[in-house]
Amino acid sequence: MLKLGVNIDHVATVREARYRGLGHGEPDPVAAAQICEAAGCHGITAHLREDRRHIQDRDIWKLREVVKTRLNLEMANAPEIVEIALKLKPEIVCLVPERRQEVTTEGGLDVVAAEKSLTETRKKMNDAGIEVSLFIAPDERQIEASARTGAQFIELHTGKFAEDFYKFEIGNLKFESELQRLVAGAKLAHSLGLQVNAGHGLNYVNLPALFAVPHLVELNIGHSLVSRAVFVGMEAAVKEMLAVMQPYRG
Ligand code: PXP
Repeated sequence: MLKLGVNIDHVATVREARYRGLGHGEPDPVAAAQICEAAGCHGITAHLREDRRHIQDRDIWKLREVVKTRLNLEMANAPEIVEIALKLKPEIVCLVPERRQEVTTEGGLDVVAAEKSLTETRKKMNDAGIEVSLFIAPDERQIEASARTGAQFIELHTGKFAEDFYKFEIGNLKFESELQRLVAGAKLAHSLGLQVNAGHGLNYVNLPALFAVPHLVELNIGHSLVSRAVFVGMEAAVKEMLAVMQPYRG
């Protein structure tokens, strides 16, 4: 069964829009995580950014206390955050690139360029009992380098697929070529022993098209769930997404 990891960053984004720097306020991403778990999600993802623009340190420690499924800490490969992760001991970390100007994570990691430092961090995490995922574009060289780091998972970046989904060319579905890159990437990663997750920009409408991609273990979805929750609540938003995911057959 395809698993759903809920990214709760944007719950914190709404809180910080009103309560930045005050250490309290609603909506509470930790309470959101509990509702998502009760609704049947399989994991909770939170990104502790170096600039703390949404998720705060307090959030991840509370999440560690209450999350009963799987806590996935999204993080940059930066010494301060690596140290926090080793103490926090989430079940898994997903290493992502971080640029300060971006609203959310925009590109995949350049594992080819950073193979040595990513391998070192991968070892530290695994030694602490934490699994490692690398967030990458569906690029052959990046996938092969990811396998060489010894990471357990990759998370395929679906941002371009999601963007192309809304572009139409005459007689052609614009997202088809990126979809085929994702298919090839998932096959290659699987053949190299990597487990394959996917995420970024996925929503209730574009998700069924992604089901052409084989070997998917888990999807990490944030924005569309939090947006839907504004209208129907977090519990219904998660249940609706799980229903959309149900037909996936790998
Ligand atoms: N996966 C990763 C690695 C991400 O950085 C993000 C965005 O924070 C997501 C998944 C979720 O993307 P979205 O919020 O567009 O669903």
